[in-house]
Amino acid sequence: MLSEAVKRDIEALRGRYPVAQSALIPALLRVQEEQGWVSPEAMAEVGRLLGLPVEVVAEVASFYTLIFTEPPGRHVVQLCTNVSCMLSGAEAVRERVERALGIRAGQTTPDGRVTLLAVECLAACDQAPCMIVDQQRHGPLSPEEAARLVEELD
Ligand code: FES
Repeated sequence: MLSEAVKRDIEALRGRYPVAQSALIPALLRVQEEQGWVSPEAMAEVGRLLGLPVEVVAEVASFYTLIFTEPPGRHVVQLCTNVSCMLSGAEAVRERVERALGIRAGQTTPDGRVTLLAVECLAACDQAPCMIVDQQRHGPLSPEEAARLVEELD
């Protein structure tokens, strides 16, 4: 369950906004900061703290790529598949990275090493095709360069 520190932070967040729903994303991110993901139990507790139905919390949590509703891998790879990257070879990069990891986008390797996400524009279209590995952006990438990056992750 949520720590006392997280509960206090969520209550403080609630006070910063005119409506409780506005505090929902920062509250979910605070939970994730501590626990690594947002479990169904955590969603229920966030809903209780903010006075929101758990269905609303679950809808928001499941909509955003970077709010994890299942435990992610030790590393998170975000591969851009939006227009600029797609036109610059993102599909070949995605196929090569999937082959290197043995999973499809949206999955986590069985050993919990890497979660691979296909995401919308990373705001680095001049570096297309690009991806973010943990917090570091890389691009423009060839399929082989991208595969090497994910193979080096421990
Ligand atoms: S389309 Fe890939 S970074 Fe913008």
